[in-house]
Amino acid sequence: MKLLIIGSNGQLGSDLVKTAESLRRHIVVPIDYPQIDIRDKASVESVVNDAAPDAVINCAAFTAVDDCETKRDTAFALNADACGNLALAAKARSSLLIHISTDYVFDGTASSPYTENDNANPRTVYGKSKLRGEEIITELYGDNSMIFRIAWLYGAGGKNFVKTIRRVASSCSQENKPLKVVNDQFGTPTWTVSVCRQILSVIDGGERGIFHATCEGDCSWFDFAKEIVSAYGIGAEVSPCTTEEYPSKTPRPRYSVLENARLKALNANIMPEWREAFREFLSTEEGI
Ligand SMILES: NC(=O)c1ccc[n+]([C@@H]2O[C@H](COP(=O)([O-])OP(=O)(O)OC[C@H]3O[C@@H](n4cnc5c(N)ncnc54)[C@H](OP(=O)(O)O)[C@@H]3O)[C@@H](O)[C@H]2O)c1
Repeated sequence: MKLLIIGSNGQLGSDLVKTAESLRRHIVVPIDYPQIDIRDKASVESVVNDAAPDAVINCAAFTAVDDCETKRDTAFALNADACGNLALAAKARSSLLIHISTDYVFDGTASSPYTENDNANPRTVYGKSKLRGEEIITELYGDNSMIFRIAWLYGAGGKNFVKTIRRVASSCSQENKPLKVVNDQFGTPTWTVSVCRQILSVIDGGERGIFHATCEGDCSWFDFAKEIVSAYGIGAEVSPCTTEEYPSKTPRPRYSVLENARLKALNANIMPEWREAFREFLSTEEGI
């Protein structure tokens, strides 16, 4: 297939380009801002028409959760309205549209994993804008689009929890201070490459709609931080704390565990257990 990958310099997009190219089954056309501005209908139409792809895969978004609170218009322009531009441009060429969404569409008050059938109830501007993006794609092009909700993403590129913990734990170790990490927010660390492999394995299967696609199992941020510190051999003490002790500007979901229910029902779930994926990430050149 010919794949137009938008947001190709981002954390997920850059690994999707590499993973798709390594399969040698696809023609990959990577593009990112400013060569495309997904907020601009004409820009999207022109790029999609020039590339003439079988599938448009959108990895571009406004992902800075705290900044979304103060830049609401930008958040909705990029995470919601731009989805309309993508849906209409893909529809005009009958190209499949693949889009990425998030656990932040849920309120995080559940105590068992969220499935695709659970009601969304976002509590942040980021989550609300991403949910609106899902709705726009579904309204305009639901019959030929797939939306993958992912969570707790880390990879070789971009900012993420693994890199932050490595950096902060190293300075804590030098200063002989414990590293406090919240132990009452739960989710599933999910490696970019696992998501890429999952998307590419179902891309020509004919299924449409919303899919959860996170790694298997769950843990707290504290548990994940302990794994990271141990994997990189950093001599810092990691100590658990509560969300109240470590407040963030924007509320974080307490419980973000997603069940890949639709993929499992299709016998198509290839997402690995999160520790196994983290080990593979570490064994790659970029992971180390
Ligand atoms: N990161 C996570 O933990 C996480 C969790 C759940 C879901 N997700 C979702 O996963 C997807 C990928 O996230 P990510 O972490 O890979 O994001 P990212 O690293 O922030 O990448 C986003 C990309 O979008 C580009 N972009 C920004 N504005 C644009 C515009 N107007 N037109 C075209 N491209 C533009 C960015 O370019 P610039 O750098 O030049 O701005 C960047 O390359 C997003 O849909 C996100 O909501 C992420």
